[in-house]
Amino acid sequence: MRLALIALLLLTLFAGCAGKQEDAYVIGFSQCTGDDEWRRAMLDGMQRELAFHNNTKLIFRDAHANSAVQVKQIEELLRNGIHLLIVSPNESDPLTPVIEKAYKQGVPVVVVDRRTSSPYYTAYVGGDNYQVGKTVGEYAAALLGGNGKMIEITGLPRSSPASDRHRGLVDALATRPSIRRVATLNGQWQKDIAKSELRKVLPRFPDLDLIFAQNEVMAMGAREVCNDIFPDRKIRVIGVDGLPGQFGDIQMVYDGHITATALYPTGGEEAARVAMNILQKQPYQKENLLQTAIIDSSNVRMIKMQTDKMISQQNDIERQQARIDEQLEIYQTQRGLLYVMTGLFIVSIILGSVALYSLIENKKINRELNSKNEEIVVQRNRIQDIAEKAQEATESKFRFFTNISHEFRTPLTLILGPVEELLRQKNESPAVRKNLSLVQKNATRLLWLVNQLMDFRKIESGKIRLQVSGNDMVAFVRELMLPFDQVARKRRIDFRLVTALPALEVWFDRDMMDKVFFNLLSNAFKFTPDWGRIYIHISQAGENVVVSVQDNGSGLSDADMAGAFEMFYQGKNSTKGTGLGLPLSREFVELHQGTIAADGKKGEGAIFTVTLPLGQAHFQPEDLADAATITSAFGRTAVQNEPEPQPAQPLPADLPSVLLIEDNEDLLGFVNALLQDQYQVSTATDGRAGLDQCFETVPDLVVCDVMLPGMDGLEITAALKSDLRTSHIPVILLTAKNTPEQQVEGMQARADMYITKPFSPQFLQESIASLLANRQLLRNTHFGPGVAEAEAGLSRLDKKFVNELRALIIARLDDPALTVESLGKALGLSRVQLFRKTKALLGGGTNELILNLRLEKACTLLRNPDLTMAEIADQTGFTSQSYFSTVFKTHFGVSPKDWRMVRS
Ligand code: FRU
Repeated sequence: MRLALIALLLLTLFAGCAGKQEDAYVIGFSQCTGDDEWRRAMLDGMQRELAFHNNTKLIFRDAHANSAVQVKQIEELLRNGIHLLIVSPNESDPLTPVIEKAYKQGVPVVVVDRRTSSPYYTAYVGGDNYQVGKTVGEYAAALLGGNGKMIEITGLPRSSPASDRHRGLVDALATRPSIRRVATLNGQWQKDIAKSELRKVLPRFPDLDLIFAQNEVMAMGAREVCNDIFPDRKIRVIGVDGLPGQFGDIQMVYDGHITATALYPTGGEEAARVAMNILQKQPYQKENLLQTAIIDSSNVRMIKMQTDKMISQQNDIERQQARIDEQLEIYQTQRGLLYVMTGLFIVSIILGSVALYSLIENKKINRELNSKNEEIVVQRNRIQDIAEKAQEATESKFRFFTNISHEFRTPLTLILGPVEELLRQKNESPAVRKNLSLVQKNATRLLWLVNQLMDFRKIESGKIRLQVSGNDMVAFVRELMLPFDQVARKRRIDFRLVTALPALEVWFDRDMMDKVFFNLLSNAFKFTPDWGRIYIHISQAGENVVVSVQDNGSGLSDADMAGAFEMFYQGKNSTKGTGLGLPLSREFVELHQGTIAADGKKGEGAIFTVTLPLGQAHFQPEDLADAATITSAFGRTAVQNEPEPQPAQPLPADLPSVLLIEDNEDLLGFVNALLQDQYQVSTATDGRAGLDQCFETVPDLVVCDVMLPGMDGLEITAALKSDLRTSHIPVILLTAKNTPEQQVEGMQARADMYITKPFSPQFLQESIASLLANRQLLRNTHFGPGVAEAEAGLSRLDKKFVNELRALIIARLDDPALTVESLGKALGLSRVQLFRKTKALLGGGTNELILNLRLEKACTLLRNPDLTMAEIADQTGFTSQSYFSTVFKTHFGVSPKDWRMVRS
């Protein structure tokens, strides 16, 4: 763009140079009349001369012999800003003021032919009119021989040529009194007027000798009048002007129409020359008088030849001039083109140079950019390294954070478990129980904080996942209120739910909302004095449910309110809070696309309002809870309500065996102590060793940690469940890994139960008892005649095992050598494993099963009267009839014979 402008500027400059050889001049030419040949000759002469000056413009105005018109025309020319005025005034006096004005305002004035009445003009060019009159007078006197009569026809008396010529004539005739001027007529420079004036007086002078007409046309008119009035007489006529050409007065002299004429040059060329000198500041003369001469028969021939020659030369010159003009035009065009071409050439050179310069600069910049790029790449790599290291550091920080949290949870379990156990036993004195409650309360609080920290970590790492389900919000809140009822009663707090809604379905993650409302209620109870008031309001507002917790406690200052949901904000009541609960609640609520707000005044209580959108359209499909997810609501007993005493477990006579796999020695010792009265407890501290022990001893139940050295709990569970020897053993996973995903993993490994740390000892005991009782229930149905109906309760592998075992036994029922060893061999199990598995699944040992099946078959055979006792004993694998009878009677209370009699 900038370059294009430079180019344009250069071109304009060249174009300017091309046209500016001379200054441009505008010359105004005011002609009194332009209707006659003499004036046309004057204009031609002027234009010819100005043609030598290219940039000079001539503006021509013709006043048609009207002085007033001429004044106006001159004023207009002046307004148009002419540089010089050439004027031939129609009359002296009327034109003088405007010419003076032009002169005085600085416009040079060249007066031609006729004069003004003032000296205010720049130059005068014209014939010497006095001399014209005098020469004509002297010539006439000579012509008439000093004696005769003459008439003078003048031009406009108020124009200077008329008066000057008259004066010259009078002076010439003054010394010749015999030549009488009989009349002086005013012809006003015009033929017709001259003719009519002459016609009036001529008849009175039949002896008239001569007429002097002051110009060519009037002379011509005089001749015509003379011819008309005195056709027989040859009155001499003398004119003025000496115009060449076919219709000029030279031709008239030549032809003998008039006697003579006085040369009066138009002064066109001269006027133009003087004007240019003035404009170009060249020297010039103010008065430029042109000479006169008489043309008559004596010289007319030669003069005519000369003027004809002049006219033809003039024509040649004009043709030449036309050619020159043409050439000039071509030259101008070509010169213009040349300038444009030169300009373009220069511009292209400049552009080329600029392009070259840009190319070089670009290369330089590219080189710099490349080196910069390289630097940037190096820096980026460095930053990447740093970022990776930072990422690693963050990861390891998170890992450390997670692990340390896990580490906290195990000792907390070890504190909370025994404390709970001690409180349950009710053996301690009230003072000790009070201390124990304090320990429990603070350990629970610590656990609550650890859980909150872990929740934050999950939110920060983006790993938290919504598991929403449709719930009755009213019922949910009522349930949440239960643990607080006791403390409310104790502290005389008016604690109630205020709602007009019987029920309202709201979609939310139970675990998260449980934490949110538990936190709000805990806060309310913290800050509300005894005898205070805590109301929970539930209402529906459009497409939202609004749940608020309102108390009349110490309330929140404006600053507290503003910072309530900020992480680690510590309000005035900071001794009572950690600043974690509310920010966490906000995160949970916002995950539900809801809002949580605090309101109230310092000293007037607080109100926390949770607003959640109704319906489930605002959740992603993956936010919806799947059936496999198990959410443990356990682990929160922050309120000072004491655990309810549980009924003691009845001790079974044959204690079931439980294997504990746990690497934390303390926890192992604690759980062992917890279970040893009710179960035969064996332990392992390493995953691999635990699994081996399982295969070896086939325990009735396994309690296993998830994070273990050697092999983790999930792998152990999967291995146990996919092995025929152990597939029937119920497995409880006991772990600090408490995310829904981790729990799902546990269930996918086919664990029977997933208990998160810290766990309630009582809950663990109940869970073990419940799983074993379920097994017993199955066994009761399994062992005996109704086996087939109960098989549906077994796992696929165990069902297969039972079927195979039964088929093997039935196929060899008549074989007295059928032993547990041979069956175990056939099934790939050791004697002990076969025994333990059969006992676990079917409630009795393998021998017992073989015997049962032998007796079952014996009953069937006894219904056949054709078979003898010996044959039946033989077909059912008894070595003798008497042994068969003894065993049968022991089992059924009757002998085979009696049984046959009764049943057949
Ligand atoms: C032309 C003319 C001439 C004469 C001159 C005087 O208009 O009449 O014939 O010589 O003017 O100004």
